[in-house]
Amino acid sequence: MTSITAAKIKKGTTVLLRADFNVPIVKNKVVGPFRIVKTLPTINYLLKKGAKVILISHAGDDGSQTLEPVYQVLKKYIPVTFVPAVFGVTVEKALAEMKPGTAVLLENLRSEPGEKKNDPKFAKALASYADIYVNDAFPVSHRAHASLVGVPKYLPHYAGFQMEQEVKHLAMAHNPKHPFLFILGGNKFSTKMPLIKKFAKSADHFFIGGALLNDLLLAKGYEIGKSVCEAGYDVTAVLKNKKLLLPIDLVVKQGEKIRICAPYEVKHSESIMDVGPETIKYVLSVASVAKFVLWNGPVGYYDLPYTPGTKNLVKGLSKIKGDVLIGGGDTVAVVSQLKLEKKFKFVSTGGGATLDFLVAGTLPGIQALK
Ligand code: 3PG
Repeated sequence: MTSITAAKIKKGTTVLLRADFNVPIVKNKVVGPFRIVKTLPTINYLLKKGAKVILISHAGDDGSQTLEPVYQVLKKYIPVTFVPAVFGVTVEKALAEMKPGTAVLLENLRSEPGEKKNDPKFAKALASYADIYVNDAFPVSHRAHASLVGVPKYLPHYAGFQMEQEVKHLAMAHNPKHPFLFILGGNKFSTKMPLIKKFAKSADHFFIGGALLNDLLLAKGYEIGKSVCEAGYDVTAVLKNKKLLLPIDLVVKQGEKIRICAPYEVKHSESIMDVGPETIKYVLSVASVAKFVLWNGPVGYYDLPYTPGTKNLVKGLSKIKGDVLIGGGDTVAVVSQLKLEKKFKFVSTGGGATLDFLVAGTLPGIQALK
């Protein structure tokens, strides 16, 4: 992966910059600009050198979403125009009129079927816009889509600053300082199993929260009432692992009634909402002597959302001495809400990409830059 700093960029060099502007949008307004802000150092570096920067990104899964709300945020920071298309005369005109040191944002790449199909014709057409290609879209680099793995075949290719930061910091988890505490939340045991297996070996302790914990409690033979769980997944090996920290208390709910109880006291009519305050204290006491903490995924029922446990964990971890790395869209949203990002060694912009990178040590979009 070659750094953008090695690229020969002159006044007027056209750069195709793959960003990940797939950000939370409510009523046509960006409500979580974290990923946009994190791409600004790369954009500004290019603009300062007098490059013409063509910004490309996806938004949402099916291609129906527009990037216009992202443009509304970007224009506060950089000289940029928005073209609501990926190809066609309007795009050609806008690109022909670009001045050095300015940017153009094109429409959602997934509005074109060639993006997800990794269609070589689509990749070649995108590449024809520019002199060089930069990937600063770590959060989507686990997808072998045209703008990530196709385009770099046709252009000199480089990694943006955020991409470099992600790889540098997340790679720390592959050679961690000890004591190392791994915390995992969220749901879907089946997809998280490779991650648990990997870090159950290398970590000194690990804690599992979120809906994943419900699976563990059920496998232990406890009542989990109406709680969300995947059920049927074999978690025996995880439960037997001596490094696993088990919760001391839980927050449960029935109707409007919320109470705190021991993990074995959940009633048939209740749902587990969160880990309790004693559990957070326990995890934080282990974290306080750790030299490295890796955390991905909220520890409570985030979909509702129910976040007191996650918030208290963020606050507590922001005060410890060891290096703390945090990843996963939902966890990072809580960090941003509490404005505590600067208190951590690194906060990843990725969700699925972060998990995949932690397991495999690379991603298709990173491989394409090699
Ligand atoms: C994400 O938010 O995880 C990335 O932008 C990738 O999005 P996707 O899961 O729709 O490919």
